[in-house]
Order: sequence, then structure tokens, then C-alpha cells
Amino acid sequence: MALHKVTLIQGDGIGPEICQAAREIIQASSVEIEWEQLPAGINAIPDYGSPVPEQLLDSIRRNKVALKGPLTTFVGKGFSSANVGLRKKLDLYANLRPVHSLEGVKARYENVDLVIVRENTEDLYSGIEHLVAPGVTEAIKVITTLASTRIGRFAFEYARKMGRKRVTAVHKANIMKLSDGLFLDSIATVAQDYPDIKFDDVIVDALCMKLVMDPTQFDILVLSNLYGDIASDLAAGLVGGLGMVPGANIGADCAVFEAVHGSAPDIAGKGIANPCALVFSGILMLRHLHEDAAADRIMNGVRQVIRDGKVLTRDLGGTATTKEFTYAVISNM
Ligand code: NAI
Repeated sequence: MALHKVTLIQGDGIGPEICQAAREIIQASSVEIEWEQLPAGINAIPDYGSPVPEQLLDSIRRNKVALKGPLTTFVGKGFSSANVGLRKKLDLYANLRPVHSLEGVKARYENVDLVIVRENTEDLYSGIEHLVAPGVTEAIKVITTLASTRIGRFAFEYARKMGRKRVTAVHKANIMKLSDGLFLDSIATVAQDYPDIKFDDVIVDALCMKLVMDPTQFDILVLSNLYGDIASDLAAGLVGGLGMVPGANIGADCAVFEAVHGSAPDIAGKGIANPCALVFSGILMLRHLHEDAAADRIMNGVRQVIRDGKVLTRDLGGTATTKEFTYAVISNM
């Protein structure tokens, strides 16, 4: 069996608790992983002087794969987001978020199976903001043909690889004619190379309404950074909440796997966080490493525990701790 070296960022808040759970579950799947643990965000500053230290970037570049807990970003003060910094410095341009229903999870819908592909490097998250005058600020939305084309290609290639039938581009080109217009045109141009996959588009506000009314009408959604961020939390809410949705940040050379949710400071240290989203991100990571048998074993374990409904964390309506849920999954694998 191959030994994989993976960079591990435990993260803040509930990060260490759910990382511990994910590591134990991955280890029990009998895949061999050597973890290289490094800090990021506020915890990296005392020793490395930066929220995204060069040593961390070197480790991810060398190992090509990282599993990451959530990092806290303080609103309106302090250093800029380590999450955004990591994605930009490693050029992890595609953010992949598969959203599905799971039997046993109480949610608004039962048969959701959609994939969110979010552009990860530009848009309003370019971090170009300034104070024009007291009381007046400006943030710049950057949309380029290069980034829009490559996220479009990623979405269509993913559709082909996974046997999916349709890609929908999400935009607000009726108002932001130049920037969102460029995004939409770029995706539409890519679509011409994929006649086997249906292509259409939807305006972002209409998308939100349609997702809430009937999320089963979508297959793959491709969005720029801000709309993708918002729509993926909305979609998580349709299948049982933030504790259930995994994510992957993928670039040409390396990939960082992380949950959609944040560091959940309100429940940090209580031992009650749901580790599913990070465990599912670990499953995406194992598939990326071609360890499909281990990924299937973990998925079956989680499915069984959730279907049984006896050992569930509080967000899923149960009373179990993170550790109790973790051991239940391991004993069902
Ligand atoms: P959040 O996702 O941390 O929490 C929102 C709500 O969902 C809270 O009530 C929390 O308890 C609950 N929740 C989240 N994950 C859960 C889990 N695994 N199990 C059970 N309940 C869970 O969002 P919030 O509060 O807006 O952000 C907190 C911090 O996390 C902020 O500093 C934010 O910037 C950061 N963040 C980091 C992300 C990352 O590292 N990729 C992503 C999103 C936010």
C-alpha cells in the first residue's frame, strides 16, 4: 500500500477537535498517511511572523495535498484572511463543493445532488479595498478572461469525468455588464468545446430563489468567488447544514481539502462539533489520492451511523459528542 504524505492544518475553534476525528477515521480506513502538521492563521504568527508562513506553503507544494481545519478571520481588523492568502499563494483556483442529501439527516430536501464550482482567486475577494475619503470606501471586483475560462474548463472537465449532464453559469450580467458579462462570455466560450454537456445560465438572485424552491433542478453550478461563497452556504442549509458539506481547493499543482464551515467559535472546545464535513473532505482527498476503497469504507461507515440515527451530534438532532460519533463511524467501517 502506498504511503502518502499530507500536510495537516488543524485550524482554530473546532478545528483541532474535528481534525482529530478525521485523522482517526482516515487511519481506521487502513490507508497509510504520514501527516506533516503546521500552523496557519493567528496561531502561526508567534513562531513564523505570518498567518501563511513560507514553511507551510513549502510543505503543501512538496506533498501536493493538505487537509485543513477552519481558520478564524477577524471581521474588519487584524491581518487579512489566511484562507484567502493560502488559496491565492498556491493558486488553488477551483473550489469544489459537492452537496448531497444523506439518508437519516433531517433536511428540507431528500434528493439533492448538486456540485458547486466556485472561482477561488479573484472577484471581490482580490482584497483590493481602500478608503477614498472618511466615510467612503471602495472595493474592486476583478474578473479576468484567464480565471473565468479556467474555472469554466474545470467545471466542464469535472462534468465529463463524473458523468454529469449540465453546467449552469451563475452571474449578474444584467447589472454588472462588463465584469459578470466577461465571466458569462468566457464560460459560454468554453461550453462550445463540450457539446455533450448542456450549458445554460441563471442570474444569481433567481438562483437563490430556485435553489430554495427546488434544488434538484440543478446539476453543476459554476460561479465567481462571492456568489459561490454565498450559494454554497445556502446549498448546505438545504441538506442539513454546514456540518455536512465538504470542500476542495484545487490548483494545477496541489490541492487543499477543507469543510465549507468556519471555526464555529460558539461551540469550540465543547467536544460537540459535527466532524462530517471534514471527514467528507477527507474522502474527497482520498479519491484525489486514488484511494477509492478507503474512501468507500469511510463513506459506508458514516452513512450507516447516520441512517441508524442513534449516535448523532447536536446539529443533526442527537446528543452525541464528536468522539462518540467518531468511534461509532469507526466501528461501522
Ligand atoms: P461558522 O461556519 O463557523 O458557524 C456558523 C454556525 O454553524 C455556528 O452556529 C456554528 O456553531 C455552526 N457550525 C459550523 N460548523 C459546525 C460543525 N462542524 N458542527 C456543528 N455546528 C457547526 O461561521 P461563522 O461563525 O460565520 O465563522 C466563524 C469563523 O470562521 C470566522 O472567523 C470566519 O471567518 C471563519 N471561517 C473560516 C472558513 C475556513 O477556514 N474555510 C470558512 C468560513 C468561515
